[in-house]
Amino acid sequence: MTLEIVLEGPQRLMGKDGKTAFVIREATTKDLNDVIMINRKVLPENYPTWFFVEHLEQFPKAFIVAEIDGRVVGYVMSRVEYGWSNIQKGKAVRKGHIVSVGVLPEARRLGIATAMMLRAMKAMKVFYGASEVYLEVRVSNTPAISLYEKLGYKVVGRIPGYYSDGEDAFLMACPL
Ligand SMILES: CC(C)(COP(=O)(O)OP(=O)(O)OC[C@H]1O[C@@H](n2cnc3c(N)ncnc32)[C@H](O)[C@@H]1OP(=O)(O)O)[C@@H](O)C(=O)NCCC(=O)NCCS
Repeated sequence: MTLEIVLEGPQRLMGKDGKTAFVIREATTKDLNDVIMINRKVLPENYPTWFFVEHLEQFPKAFIVAEIDGRVVGYVMSRVEYGWSNIQKGKAVRKGHIVSVGVLPEARRLGIATAMMLRAMKAMKVFYGASEVYLEVRVSNTPAISLYEKLGYKVVGRIPGYYSDGEDAFLMACPL
């Protein structure tokens, strides 16, 4: 991945269609309604407002939104935890956790999730000292799994019945 991601301020990027420009930046409290709306629209895993607020307060540098023409079209919400490495057995590490990522259907396949994930991952390393990052994904979610593999994630485990409807999750992790 050759995309050069900056960590200060908004970054303007060109979509993969060559004509749709988008901006990635840190989220603010003003974005939370849009983020919650996108989360409800694109994912069955929805959270109470306080959950979003708490992540924004605790890990603002790794809570990223994307805009097209000033409209929020996607988000990545993250946290950083201390615990056992998902990559090196028996080692305790600071590890980033991608909690939720979503892009509105009309803004997909432009590279927006890729850019937001790269910025969140870089921020986890630089601002919060994470040495690796992990996430859970439905085993049936081929688009997301493909996105994560392109970013360097590998499946490191499978969690039976992780989701409320009984579907298993893949645990995927990537060194930072
Ligand atoms: C998964 C999701 C976040 C991807 O967002 P996006 O902005 O379209 O992703 P990108 O444009 O950065 O795509 C990067 C790569 O991911 C993969 N990908 C994305 N959408 C895909 C699809 N529908 N089918 C297959 N691969 C797909 C491709 O490898 C793609 O690269 P390519 O376009 O060069 O082929 C988006 O589809 C979404 O919001 N889905 C619903 C919510 C969700 O599943 N979130 C993840 C939960 S763990």
